[in-house]
Amino acid sequence: MPMETATPQLVARDLFQSFRMGARRIEVLRGISIEIARNEAVFLSGASGAGKTTLLYTLAGLERPESGTVEFEGRRLYDGSSAAEARLRNEKMGFVFQGYFLLPELTALENVLLPGMIGRRAATDAAEASLAAVGLGDRMHHLPAELSGGDDERSGHHFR
Ligand SMILES: Nc1ncnc2c1ncn2[C@@H]1O[C@H](COP(=O)(O)OP(=O)(O)O)[C@@H](O)[C@H]1O
Ligand SMILES: [Mg+2]
Repeated sequence: MPMETATPQLVARDLFQSFRMGARRIEVLRGISIEIARNEAVFLSGASGAGKTTLLYTLAGLERPESGTVEFEGRRLYDGSSAAEARLRNEKMGFVFQGYFLLPELTALENVLLPGMIGRRAATDAAEASLAAVGLGDRMHHLPAELSGGDDERSGHHFR
């Protein structure tokens, strides 16, 4: 029996994005297509300004492309109601931003729990396990500003 080919979890087709800088127009994404399987890890590299962040925002439903499509688990992004898209992002998308955007008055654990609290499915055990997996098991109750260099918000800005 032939093995069934798994449908990719994420399919992007022919993405275009450009930004206007005064009179200049910078074409950042020029026909990017990509398919990513469930559980596949993808490493994206490129010079500063090459468009990595723009592509990731577009794939995660955070920034509508000028043209092209993004389908996540068979659902087309940028196509439905904003409430449905917000729910999809809340339930399915995780994003570690370059500048972190951690809420400074919440602990590391509370920051990790926040999306689940908004989605009414907060899972403390899973959040603790995630923090432990990245070596922050003993710092879960620290505020972001109390985390050591390399993992707080300020250090993120040195690596743009
Ligand atoms: N919101 C925006 N407005 C104007 N220009 C932008 C915007 N976002 C990104 N750019 C420009 O698009 C290009 C790609 O940026 P970016 O995706 O952040 O690159 P990378 O993450 O690879 O460093 C850069 O020239 C950047 O200045
Ligand atoms: Mg970037």
